[in-house]
Amino acid sequence: MTQHANGLGFTRRPNENPRSQAEREAVLANPGFGDHFTDHTAVVDYKVDPGGAGGWSNARIEPYGPILMDPAAAVLHYGQEIFEGMKAYRHTDGSIWTFRADANAARFNASARRLALPELPEETFLDSLRELVTADREWVPSRDGDALYLRPFMIATEAFLGVRPAREVSYRVIASPAGNYFGGELKPVSIWLTTTYARAGEGGTGEAKCGGNYAASLAAQLEAEAHGCKQVLFLDPHNDNAVEELGGMNIFFVFGDGTLVTPELNGHILHGITRSSVLQLAADRGMTIQERKITIDEWRSGVDSGAITEVFACGTAAVITPIGELKTADGSIASPAQGIGEVTAAIREQLVGIQTGAVPDLHGWLTRLA
Ligand code: PLP
Ligand code: COI
Repeated sequence: MTQHANGLGFTRRPNENPRSQAEREAVLANPGFGDHFTDHTAVVDYKVDPGGAGGWSNARIEPYGPILMDPAAAVLHYGQEIFEGMKAYRHTDGSIWTFRADANAARFNASARRLALPELPEETFLDSLRELVTADREWVPSRDGDALYLRPFMIATEAFLGVRPAREVSYRVIASPAGNYFGGELKPVSIWLTTTYARAGEGGTGEAKCGGNYAASLAAQLEAEAHGCKQVLFLDPHNDNAVEELGGMNIFFVFGDGTLVTPELNGHILHGITRSSVLQLAADRGMTIQERKITIDEWRSGVDSGAITEVFACGTAAVITPIGELKTADGSIASPAQGIGEVTAAIREQLVGIQTGAVPDLHGWLTRLA
C-alpha cells in the first residue's frame, strides 16, 4: 500500500492467474490495437454521502475481469461516461514513461464537468497509471512503434432510472498493448467525408471525450467503410464545408510554403494533445502555424494547385498517419503526396522520438511511470 498526501493510497490484489510468459510474448509479437488486455486494472469508487458531499475511496489494483453492475446502472441507460487515451512507452534502459499526462488529467476533468461526473484529483489519476503500469510492466512493448495503450474511464454505476447525475461512480483504468491503429505497416489511409452526419454541435459534447460522441460517429464510420475508407471526416455543422476532425483524430494540412494549418478549436473539436504537441514541434522547426477555418474547397483547390503538399491525421492511437485520398459524394480529392510526406515523416519521427526517449524532451512532456 502506498500513501500519498491526499490519502488515496492504492491497495494491491495481484492476479493469481496471470497470463503465462509465452501467452504474453505471443500478444506482444502481434499486439494489433485494442484486442488484448493486461492482467490488472485500477479502480477508485465515488459516492455522494447522505449529506450531499462526495468523495473518492477504495483506490485499488485488482485482477482484470468483468465488472459486476446493476442492470439499472445509469451508464447503461443514459451514457454518463467519459474516457481518456494515452500510452506508456518503454525506454531503452527499461524505464517506462508517459506523455503529457497532466494534459490528459486536465482534459479528463473538463470532460467530467461537461458530463456532470465528479472530478478526479489529478494526483489520483497519475497514481492510478503508475500503479497499473508497475503491476503490468511486463506488458509494456519494447518494439519500435508499439506502446501500452492506457484507457482511464469513468462510469455512472448508480442503479436509478430517473435522469439526473448519478451519485455512485466508478473510475477505472485498463491497459492494452498496441501497435499501429490501422493495422500493418504505416501507410496513407483514405478518408470518407460524411455530409449525412455531424459528430458534434454548438453547446454539445464535442469537446468532451465521452462515449456518446463515438456512438454518434459509428453510422458515419459504416458509411466510410462502405466506400472502402478507414476513417470518417466530419464537417463543422455550423460552417458550411469547414473541415472539423476525424472520428478519432485531428487533421493537419502541410503547405509547400512552410505553413501548417489545422482547424481552430471551435467549441466542438476535441482538444487533441497530439494536435497541440504537433503545433509546438512545427513551430520549433520554424514552420508558420495557423489554427483557422479550412474548407473542403480550399483542400481541393490546394491539392490541384500544388499549394497543399501533405495531409495527416494525429491522435494518441493514430500517432501521426498520412491521409491519402479524400472520398466524397462529389468525387475524390487525390493524395497530395506519395506515401509518407517529408514533413509528416519528420514531425512523426520527432514526436515518437521524444515519447520513446530517443530525442531530448525539451518541453518536459514525459512523466516516469515505472
Ligand atoms: N479527436 C478525436 C475525436 C479523438 O478521439 C482523438 C483521440 O483521442 C483525438 C482527436 C486526438 O486526441 P489526442 O491527441 O489527445 O489523443
Ligand atoms: C485515442 O487516440 O486515444 C482515441 O481515443 C481514439 C480512438 C479512435 C481509439
